[in-house]
Amino acid sequence: MDLSNKCYLVTGAAIDSDIGLAICQKLDACGARLILVGRREQTLIDTAATLNGQHVIAPFDLTKLDDIAPWAKNLVSEYGAIDGLVHSASFQGYSPLRGICATQIHQYFDVNFSAAVLLTAAFSKAKHFNADASFVFIGSAAGQRGLKARTLYAASKAALASMVQSAALELASKHIRVNCVAPAIVSGAKAELQFATLGEQQSQLLKNAHPLGLSTPLDVANSVYFLLSDLSRNTTGITLAVDGGFLAG
Ligand SMILES: NC(=O)c1ccc[n+]([C@@H]2O[C@H](COP(=O)([O-])OP(=O)(O)OC[C@H]3O[C@@H](n4cnc5c(N)ncnc54)[C@H](OP(=O)(O)O)[C@@H]3O)[C@@H](O)[C@H]2O)c1
Repeated sequence: MDLSNKCYLVTGAAIDSDIGLAICQKLDACGARLILVGRREQTLIDTAATLNGQHVIAPFDLTKLDDIAPWAKNLVSEYGAIDGLVHSASFQGYSPLRGICATQIHQYFDVNFSAAVLLTAAFSKAKHFNADASFVFIGSAAGQRGLKARTLYAASKAALASMVQSAALELASKHIRVNCVAPAIVSGAKAELQFATLGEQQSQLLKNAHPLGLSTPLDVANSVYFLLSDLSRNTTGITLAVDGGFLAG
């Protein structure tokens, strides 16, 4: 399905992101115009250099929660209303309970949950979105299953999936759809880092928990595309697992 004449904001769009980059490349290939968001401007410029279309570079730190609404307003007045957004930026890692502190809770929740809520609130304001807009959040299978040492990451993604359900109900009258894509382990730099941390035996167990094998960034991008496009025009409030069967086990 062609997405030309559509404009999407994509957070976590850096060249060295695994999934954000794949999402940008997929949407660009479908003709969409993108607003690329992340903290490091050069990594967004580098992403844009891999794309065919003319896109907007919009460096912004999403932990500046109070600035999200005015920033969104400025973007809309400069580039027009959006057809949707993809929030892929996140804070990831392990947080064993013995070392947890309040700062860590903020690190995970500010980007993964609070920024998601405030982006939803900001871009669902009148004149900020076009007809039949679609908002997609990248969650995680970790949000739907207990995982050792991942309390904060998992809880932030569970909160995100819950937010998506309530926001979907609230925004249905504006014809804005709100959905989540939940990958398990995705092949790429983050997965390699995780395997290096876990060691060979634990890594093999984790890989075996994905009966179809690890997803690729493109698998995730294809599901994002589905949820942004009219192919999913009657779908809202769901969390779509892209997890190689991880949650089925
Ligand atoms: N990789 C996996 O195996 C996996 C599995 C399940 C779910 N997920 C989810 O999928 C999404 C993408 O994962 P990924 O591994 O591709 O992510 P990633 O490589 O860690 O990318 C995260 C991006 O978020 C941006 N970011 C982080 N903090 C930010 C902030 N405060 N403001 C603005 N941007 C910020 C970073 O760019 P800057 O540093 O330039 O800001 C970075 O480009 C995430 O939501 C993640 O939780 C990933």
